[in-house]
Amino acid sequence: MTISSPQHHVIEFNLSLCGLLCYCRSGYEANMAQEIEAICALHQIFGFAKVLPHTGFVYFAFYSPENIQRVNEAVRFDELMFARQMIGVFAHIPNLNRNDRLTQIHEACDTHLSKEFMAQTAVVESADTEDGKELAKFCRKFSVPFRQHLRSHQWLVQRKTKQALVGMTLHAFFEHGSCIHLGVSLPGNRSVHENGIYRLKFPSDAPSRSTLKLEEAIQTFIPKAEQQHYFNGDVSAVDLGACPGGWTYQLVSRGVQVEAIDNGAMDDKLMATGLVDYFAADGFKYQPQYGKVNWLVCDMIEQPDRVAQLMTQWLVKGWAQHAIFNLKLPMKQRFVAMNEAKTNIISQLKAAGINFSWQAKHLYHNRDEVTVCILRND
Ligand SMILES: C[S@@+](CC[C@H](N)C(=O)[O-])C[C@H]1O[C@@H](n2cnc3c(N)ncnc32)[C@H](O)[C@@H]1O
Repeated sequence: MTISSPQHHVIEFNLSLCGLLCYCRSGYEANMAQEIEAICALHQIFGFAKVLPHTGFVYFAFYSPENIQRVNEAVRFDELMFARQMIGVFAHIPNLNRNDRLTQIHEACDTHLSKEFMAQTAVVESADTEDGKELAKFCRKFSVPFRQHLRSHQWLVQRKTKQALVGMTLHAFFEHGSCIHLGVSLPGNRSVHENGIYRLKFPSDAPSRSTLKLEEAIQTFIPKAEQQHYFNGDVSAVDLGACPGGWTYQLVSRGVQVEAIDNGAMDDKLMATGLVDYFAADGFKYQPQYGKVNWLVCDMIEQPDRVAQLMTQWLVKGWAQHAIFNLKLPMKQRFVAMNEAKTNIISQLKAAGINFSWQAKHLYHNRDEVTVCILRND
């Protein structure tokens, strides 16, 4: 069983980190803190999480400085369910002079970054919260002088890139106008999106906004180069809780033949594609009508342990090869509940001798649910 395939970036410089900063959905700080504390404890990286409700981030301060290489190997972004982004912090400036922010930023970089350090991109970020809109505007403006300054002091390559985050990236994260965390993220161990937010355009002909959840899940969990292999005209799927058809829309637009299960009404345009067979049935009782399918997807809003059990059953019976599904988060003890569901699913799949990879994320387009992707490796 693999969690996902870790690519450990080779680090050719020394950098001491004072903590880890994880961005998450506002309201999920306590869950994020539990998760980062658990992972760090497992790898004997000791510290404590500073949690402020509804701030959209958690700072895990190390008791003593940790080498970036060790942290990069121990704490893997893909293993964190609640993290939208993760950066290794090398300096925290809580009292930035609002009239001259660059001087203190310069001093911190000068103190902490070695001569070999050269970032490929640099971003100025803030938390995604209701009150954070003004700060986000400021961050966009500030990114221009920030990057110019970094370039002129050879902390950032001269060449500009289209993507926000490429190679090693320097992050300036503003808690507010005069409080900043400076850190780095490494390729293969972070989100490639600014602020960890995967913005997607809603396709005008899709039947529901839920479509963006499956789109984000596919883009997040399946490398671009492999998407054609997993979704094409020879592939079949079952969509449980399909109506009005946002998830089916994503499958159909990739040429996949879909059995759509729900008691509700399916979008007419989708039905007209000829790629959808609709069955008004209970998703918990349905069995694939035309033999095994490649994919099981499920967006039924139901008790997470019931859905987890159903997904496991399909995979163990071999009715579906791979699965993407949502687990609804309970009001309380969300981290504990998700961990239990994960442990149950993984232990049953292992006991059945299935070789698979597990990925799970609280995606940007999710609300109170975590999306899980299980890919069979054989
Ligand atoms: C969040 S909606 C799904 C939205 C859909 N994924 C989309 O993108 O349009 C949940 C759906 O699950 C269906 N559902 C809930 N329990 C079900 C069950 N036991 N069997 C079949 N469908 C069920 C509901 O009727 C509802 O249409």
